[in-house]
Amino acid sequence: MHFDDVMRGRRSIRGYKPDPVPREMIEEILALAMRSPSSMNTQPWNFHVITGAPLDRIRAGNTERNLAGIPHSREFRIGQPFAGVHRERQIGVAKQLFSAMGIARDDAAMRQDWVMRGFRQFDAPVCIIISYDRVLADSDDTAFDCGAVTNALVNAAWSRGLGCVINSQGIMQSPVVREHAGIPDDQVIMKAIALGWPDDDFPANAVVSERKPVHEAARFVGFD
Ligand SMILES: Cc1cc2nc3c(=O)[nH]c(=O)nc-3n(C[C@H](O)[C@H](O)[C@H](O)COP(=O)(O)O)c2cc1C
Repeated sequence: MHFDDVMRGRRSIRGYKPDPVPREMIEEILALAMRSPSSMNTQPWNFHVITGAPLDRIRAGNTERNLAGIPHSREFRIGQPFAGVHRERQIGVAKQLFSAMGIARDDAAMRQDWVMRGFRQFDAPVCIIISYDRVLADSDDTAFDCGAVTNALVNAAWSRGLGCVINSQGIMQSPVVREHAGIPDDQVIMKAIALGWPDDDFPANAVVSERKPVHEAARFVGFD
């Protein structure tokens, strides 16, 4: 697949076929993604690739704790709630997804169902947890590097016909993930990536989210 086609075609996949993903394929994708640059080549990332019974235990634990109202215990900072243009963009993509799924604005049950789907890692056959070495926790470069490798990972997967959704939902109950994935204390849990073969009949998978234009994002200095 041409690079431009991967970048233009990739979108988050939130509905999967149950078919397994071969381990060798995931190893190949990780090896490619790990060619990403990192600060001073420190490569602060670790990947915990989970499937089968341990992943089912994570889904069950996340569901149980969220339904019980146990406060979230994510291991990363999220800052202030979104406002202004950022809130508008958040609402924009949510509207696109709900509209595709036929979820009405006032349908609390269906909305809750959608949220729980995220806590179940969208029922994907594989979940990759990205963690980083705790000793590097104070550097913003660490988050930057994890983002770089994650973006490469989802694009490498897409180029092979696999879909992903990067998500925070899967790791909001971090003790569940830490226990069932066996993540050591010297690593901080950063993000989850659901991965599998896209279900082309799942309406939300067709959603193409919007982007602000280049002229809003970029300033060119010294060109004229
Ligand atoms: C850091 C990060 C966290 C995200 N968390 C979630 C999440 O918890 N649930 C979800 O459904 N999507 C999540 N997403 C996916 C974004 O909603 C999605 O990337 C964005 O709307 C752009 O859509 P696209 O990936 O289809 O281009 C997350 C993406 C990133 C990069």
